[in-house]
This record gives sequence, C-alpha cells and structure tokens, in this order.
Amino acid sequence: MQERLQKIIATAGIASRRKAEEMITQGRVMVNGPVVRELGSKADLENDHIKVDGKLLSQPGRRVTLLLNKPIGVISSVSDPQKRQTVVSLVRGIKERVYPVGRLDYQSSGLLLLTNDGDLANHMMARASAVPRTYHVKLEGSPDSKALAKLEQGIVLDGQRTAPCQIRALVQASRRGNPGSSGKPWYEITLVEGRYHQVRRMFERIGCAVVKLKRVRIAFLTDHGLAPGRYRQLTPDEVTRLKHWKGNSAAAK
Ligand code: URA
Repeated sequence: MQERLQKIIATAGIASRRKAEEMITQGRVMVNGPVVRELGSKADLENDHIKVDGKLLSQPGRRVTLLLNKPIGVISSVSDPQKRQTVVSLVRGIKERVYPVGRLDYQSSGLLLLTNDGDLANHMMARASAVPRTYHVKLEGSPDSKALAKLEQGIVLDGQRTAPCQIRALVQASRRGNPGSSGKPWYEITLVEGRYHQVRRMFERIGCAVVKLKRVRIAFLTDHGLAPGRYRQLTPDEVTRLKHWKGNSAAAK
C-alpha cells in the first residue's frame, strides 16, 4: 500500500512524524536508491527499498490482539518478581510478544486485551477515547439509591472527579448459581475510564466493600463463549472498530 514516507518511518518506530519530515528534508531518506527530499512523496514498504540513514526499513511484524478471560489469582503483567502466574503465561502458540492493555487486579477476573499493537493500546488507554468497560461486582452491604446516584454523578478520587458512570442492580438468582446465591447483592457498573482500583475504591467510598469483581464487557466485546483462562484472537474488523471507537468524551472529562 502506498503511504506517505513520513508515515512509514513513524509507523516503523524510527521517529515521530514531525521528526520523520525533518529527516526527509535533510536528505537522510532514500527510496530505491536516490535520496527523496519531497515531503509529499509516497512509497510502499512491501515493494520499495526505503533506507533511513543508510539502514533498510523492514516490514513491521504481524500485529496480534487477544481477548483473554483472566481468572482470579493471575497477575496482569508480563513477569512478576513474586513468581505469581501472569496473564502472558496463559498465552500459548502465539510467537509474537503481547502486553496487557491496562490491568485487572490479582483478585479480579474477566476480560483483558493483550496486544503488540501500540496504536491500539494507546487508543484504548487514552481518556479521550472513552472506551466503556463494564464490571459485575458482588458487594458486602447494600448501597442505598442516593449513594449509588452519587457514584454515578462522579466523586473525587485522588483530587480528581471521576467521570459519570452507570450503575444498575443485577437480578438475584434465587437458587444455586451466580449471581446472588450468597445473598450478597450484585451490581453492574460501566466506566469510561480506568483509574487505579477505581471500582473497588468507588464502592468503598459509600461503605460497601467489593468482594468479587469481574469485567464482562470492553466496548462491544463480551466474554461470551470464553471460559476463564481462555483467549481468542480479535478479527481485523474488531481491531478496526476499537481503533475508531470514540465514546462520549464529555463523560470522560
Ligand atoms: N477496578 C478495580 O478496582 N479493579 C479492577 O480490577 C478493575 C477495575
């Protein structure tokens, strides 16, 4: 695919686009032999030989994004000094190195993206993208509707107001099975930001400890058909949809 040279150089991680433009005008970039100094010039990394400072640019590696259903008792990182099991160790048969996008607490379970696609990771983590994440939580104690409304409107955590969010009670199952079999209430909460221990700290603020926490949705992705400890690769279409996701950023302010 033909693309502007500065974009190719930036995507290869050599420099920012602005810096790449400078490199081009300084005569440090060659395409199929000759130096190219024009900023509008295009090339195709698959078919053209592009050299920057004499070094040939190679094809970027395959981009991989996985949706994992993290079990409780697994740490959301690549390695752990305490030798606890990591989310990355659950991935087998994928030769690319992938990294968790954000984190779920050790005692939390549910959906976590793992990727080697920096653009996707940045987009998912950016506050302005306002990508919604939905959690099911089991609470110690029953919050009253006034307290829940307060959380929905936003509370101050670490000196900064949380974005508006949605909370609803989940219907309790009367017999065996979850949610609700222990008599403790379950709630669903949807946030468009991901601050440190945010869900747990929000409910603690109204006097309700979270005793279980499971992330059940990220944007349009659900845990449907994904048992704990299992993962699947996202389709190119799903990755594109996530990369273009633009939620209500007013809610994220
Ligand atoms: N909020 C929390 O408090 N913990 C998680 O694991 C995820 C969101």
